[in-house]
This record gives sequence, C-alpha cells and structure tokens, in this order.
Amino acid sequence: DYRDMSRKAANYIGALIINKPDCVLGLATGSTPIGTYKNLVAGYENGDYDFSNVRSVNLDEYKGLPKENEQSYYYFMHDNLFSHVNIDPANTHLPDGTEPDSQKACEEYNKVIASMGGVDLQLLGLGHDGHIGFNEFDKETHCVDLTEMTIEANKRFFNSIDEVPRQAYTMGIATIMRAKCVLMVVSGKDKAEILKKSFFGPITPQVPASILQLHPNFVLIADEDALSAL
Ligand code: F6R
Repeated sequence: DYRDMSRKAANYIGALIINKPDCVLGLATGSTPIGTYKNLVAGYENGDYDFSNVRSVNLDEYKGLPKENEQSYYYFMHDNLFSHVNIDPANTHLPDGTEPDSQKACEEYNKVIASMGGVDLQLLGLGHDGHIGFNEFDKETHCVDLTEMTIEANKRFFNSIDEVPRQAYTMGIATIMRAKCVLMVVSGKDKAEILKKSFFGPITPQVPASILQLHPNFVLIADEDALSAL
C-alpha cells in the first residue's frame, strides 16, 4: 500500500545517502512522494540519515511562481523536506520560476546540473498522461506548456483552475536518462492504466515515461492499486 511504497522508497534513497554522503538527489514534487519525504525526515530524526553534504536538484518549477507562493515547488520542497532535515539550503536547487526569459532560466538550470556532475538518483512520480517531470521528449531543461490533463490534475492544490500556471520549467528526458539510478513511486488506481502503458507497452513519445524501459538502473516501487492493471 501507499505506506509500504513510501517506506521502501525512503529506504532506497537513505541507503544511497549512507553510502555516498555527498550524493546528488534528483527530487520530485506532487502527492506521491510526500510519504517518501516523511520517512526520510523520520530517518533523519532518529539519526540514520545525515543530509549535511547531500546535494539536490528538483525536476521542475512552475513558470511565474515566486518561492513564497505556497503552490511553488520551492515551497513544497521546504515544507515537506528541506526545513525538516540538515540539508544546506545552498545545496538545494530548483529552476527559477521567477525568471521570465525561458531560455535563460533553462540554460542556467542545465549549468547547475552539469556543475554537480549529474544526478546519482532521480526520484520520479508518474503523470496521468505518462509525463515524468513535465516532459515531452525534449533533451535538456526546457519550458513546457502544461497539458489540459495536467492542469486539471493539479488544480486540487489551487483555489481555482484559473490560478494554475500554464507553463513550467522542467528537467529534460536526456537529463533524467543520464541519472545513474531512477526511482519511480506510483500510487493509486487512477495510475494503473498509464503504469501498464508506460512499462508494458511500446516506447513512444506519446507516453514519455516509456523511455524508462531503456534505463539501465530503473526501480519502480508501486502500490497494489497502481499495479492492478497488470
Ligand atoms: C513533480 C512532477 C510530476 C509529478 C506527476 C505525478 O515534480 O514533475 O511529473 O511527478 O505529475 O504527480 P502526483 O504524484 O501528484 O500524482
């Protein structure tokens, strides 16, 4: 179930933190990883995990939302993880949602990722349309128009659908595929069909997550509901 999935995912990430204290974690937002972060915080509190040298890069950020906005992914990461563990804020990175120049925002983020030597472990959720990050098949960090399905799915966090930003800066598939390890967490019946399509169907740009079939070190941790279409 969701609790098992979250605990196992946190253990997997925690093992990396123990083995490589200055690892680069690629992090995701959304509902699914919240339990994973709760378990990581618990592991920090009981002394298992030390984040003091851990570095992080997040998958994406809404274009137009400042850090103080409660719906920004920056805010989410602070609320769910960063402010509860001893990670150095200077070691945490997200695309700059307040940079109006998309090209500049994306180039700068690519530089940040490159300067860290790439991602050791990339945590992913799975979008209802198979997106990872907010990706189509672009290469590096880029600006995307969010699909109607994603705007609809994410409106639950905002007061109204009109407040949901229409664009985001997202890490590209090439960056995700270069991560040494990719860990995906998927929960719920509403993800069952797209999970099946992603990993038991053809590799196609229509289902961006399907590219992960080619990743040499991919781990999926899902609950029974999400696996129910297999
Ligand atoms: C999050 C992200 C998205 C989500 C996906 C699933 O940073 O980029 O790809 O992982 O939309 O979201 P949830 O977990 O809310 O169903």
